[in-house]
Order: sequence, then structure tokens, then C-alpha cells
Amino acid sequence: MKRAPGVVSNLHKLDLISIVISSKCYSKKWFPPQSDLEKGVNGLHINDVTPDTVATSSRFSSPPGPKTEALVPPIYHSSTYKLQSVDDYLKILEEGGYIYSRLGNFTNDSVCAVINSLEGGKGSLVFSTGMAAISTALLCFLKSGDHIVVNNPCYSGTYDIVVNILPRYGIEHTFVTTGCPVEEYRKHIKPNTRMLYGETPCNPNMAILDLEEFGKLGRSLDNVLTIVDSTFASPYLQPVIKHGIDISMHSCTKYLGGHSDLVAGCLTFASVDLWKTMIHYQTTLGTSMSPHDASLLLRGIKTLPIRMEKHSSNAQKVAEFLEKHPKVQKVMYPGLPSHPQHQIARKQMKMFSGMIAAEIRGGVQGGKILVENVRLVQLAVSLGGVESLIEHPATMTHGPMLMTSEDRLSGGITDGLVRISIGIEDPDDLIKDLQQALDKIPENVIG
Ligand SMILES: Cc1ncc(COP(=O)(O)O)c(C=O)c1O
Repeated sequence: MKRAPGVVSNLHKLDLISIVISSKCYSKKWFPPQSDLEKGVNGLHINDVTPDTVATSSRFSSPPGPKTEALVPPIYHSSTYKLQSVDDYLKILEEGGYIYSRLGNFTNDSVCAVINSLEGGKGSLVFSTGMAAISTALLCFLKSGDHIVVNNPCYSGTYDIVVNILPRYGIEHTFVTTGCPVEEYRKHIKPNTRMLYGETPCNPNMAILDLEEFGKLGRSLDNVLTIVDSTFASPYLQPVIKHGIDISMHSCTKYLGGHSDLVAGCLTFASVDLWKTMIHYQTTLGTSMSPHDASLLLRGIKTLPIRMEKHSSNAQKVAEFLEKHPKVQKVMYPGLPSHPQHQIARKQMKMFSGMIAAEIRGGVQGGKILVENVRLVQLAVSLGGVESLIEHPATMTHGPMLMTSEDRLSGGITDGLVRISIGIEDPDDLIKDLQQALDKIPENVIG
């Protein structure tokens, strides 16, 4: 009887076996995976041990035959690595390799290599969070008696460490206003200044730092490092090292990861010496990334260019809509000709990214009504994911819990300011959503 193709239920068991054996895909040399104990390890065989030991000690090593390489790097969960000899321990410490995951991990190295290629640096390192990257950099390159010049506002965690933590270690700071000409940094340099820190575009007010000028200033000074937090742009839109900056920093939680499903940070260095100094601090302070997050990050980075293009084109449309809206006092988006550093942004950014700062009329109340009435855009901190988010810095990320009102207001974080992270949705849907939420702000609140 002729069998219908694909119908196997009527096949006799033996027919199936003969199909498998005669199939071109499987040779007679192809056997089920076996543990090292089944094969015998240095004369030790599975029969020499009890099932208790088999459960803990069985391992599978690569099959014989030609070696292939996984297209997507595997997640190396292993905290430790089996050595061939005692001497290999020191050899690996000297020459590189893997012995303990805090000191080095293949999945993490895979993402470091990709980030470094995007940044055009001499080496990258990945951290458990953006703040882990920032704090490790500050502790590594500054010591008691040193001075740092930082822009204000900056990310509130950076502000916190500079204002509340570094002074406990005898490190002083001076703030310059975000968006100021680089010359302002020069004016505040003292004999003990060891670091110039810039964030661009700045969180939350989208002011821009001139990277070329910042790099030039850094290069003109001895023993002063420049570091730039370029999180709001991503390395795709704004590679930093080529401007002569010593260290590029990103919270990978944002655009690099891109899907709001991991927390991570990275640093990229302009020289191998800086990388080597930092890896010592990173391994000893224990701030490296989890390999599982490294794998998610690798996956996110693959679509970074197309995401950044969509974030940017969406944000441009939304910023243009907001700028014309009567309930919006001011819009800060580097892609708008009205942005005070628009020309600098054009010079150093491929596109203008997805972050918008908008000052809503009606102060705290106006801002709050907007963020609490959006329906598609989500009220949430963080940014850089595929979904649009909105927050109110004066009461949330840059609120009284984190910074003084004086520092907040002097940094231009006004009461009605909202920060919007534009996602990759349809821009017209986003505009409709913002329009209906703005409609909910009563005229008497606007004043
Ligand atoms: C500009 C900027 N830098 C650094 C950080 C800190 O990153 P993380 O939250 O991953 O520690 C953030 C977080 O929002 C940020 O916006």
C-alpha cells in the first residue's frame, strides 16, 4: 500500500530506523552525546563512581570532528574554569584567557569587542550598570586631593556621587552649566584638576557639549582625563573617541540594549593603558556585567542603527509638533533649529536621537497633568527602549530626594519640564496621544 508522504504513524519502527541510518544527514559515526565520565577521564570511568557523583561531575565536551563556531556567542554562566595545569593559572593571568568570571568571561568579551568596534576605541569594558561604569571610572582615575569639573545638570546618579560620595574620599568638584562653551571648563581648571566630565546630550535638558573643543582642551592639558557620557546619543549616532576624548561612557540600559530588559554600562578607552588600568579596578571592585545581560545586550546592538534612525525621525516629528503647541513654552531637541547648540549637534551627531525635553506651561501642575494623562506613552523613568516613556524630572529623576532645588533650577530643570523618550511606534499615534494629554491641562493652570 502506498503511504501518503509525511504520514509516519503507519510506519513500522524498523522502517524508521532504516530511514535514519540511510539518511544522508546522519552517518554511522554520529552517536548520542556522551559525558566525559562515560568516555573515561584519565582512566576514571562512570562505573567507578556512584550516581551521586555522576550528577555533580558529568560534563560534556565538544564532539569530535571539524570544529564549528556558534554564530551567536553562547552565554557562559560558569563562574569558574577547569584548568589543564597549575602553571596555566599564572599564564592566563599574564596572557589573557578565562579562569574566573569576575576576571573575564567570553560572553562579556564578545559584547566588549562589538562596542569597541562601534566606538572606534582601543578597548571596552562592560559593567553591571551605567552607574557601576561611572563610579568605577571615578574611583579608578581620581584620588584624595584631586579635583573634577562636571557639567550640571547631569544624570542624577552622577550628580549624587560627585556631590555626596567623592568628597568623603577627599575629591572636590566644580560645576559648570551644561551647554556652556568648553572655555568654561578651562576657566575652572586648578593645579589638582585630574578629570573633565561631560554629558551630551545632557540628561534631562538636552543641552549639547562641543566634543571637538572638549577633546582639544583635554589634549592640551597634562594629567587631565576627559570622559563623556554619551548615553542619550548611543555610539552609533555619536562616537566620542574620535574627537580626542579619553573615555566614552554609556548606560547600556538605554539605547545600546534598546528593549528595557537589562541594566548595564560600558566604558571605551582611547588607549590600551587606560583599559589596563581600569580592568584592574573593575575586577577588584567587582563591577562587571552578568553574562546573561551581555547576551541580551549583544542581541540589542544588532538592531541599534535601524532603531536609532527610527527614534530620531520620530522624535523630530514629535518635537516639531510640541514646539508649535500653545501649552508648551519651550522644546529642547537638538534637531530643532531653535536649539541653542543645534549647529554643534549637526557637527557631531549623525542624527539627533529620540530624547526630547519640553517645558510645559503651568509649572509642576502642568507637567504632572501631561505625564499622568498620556495613554500610549508610558509614565516611567529610564529611556532608550522601543516603547515611548515620559517623566517629570522636577518631581522624579531630579527631584528633592536627589538634588537641591537650587542646583536643579540653576541647571535649567524648570518645574514644568518633562522628559520624553520617543520610541519606534508610529509618530502620528504618539502625537495624537500627547495632544489629548495636553488638552487635559486646564486653562487656569496655564495662567
Ligand atoms: C545619561 C545617563 N548616564 C548614566 C545613567 C546611569 O545608568 P544606569 O541606570 O544603567 O546605572 C543614566 C540612567 O538613567 C543616564 O540617563
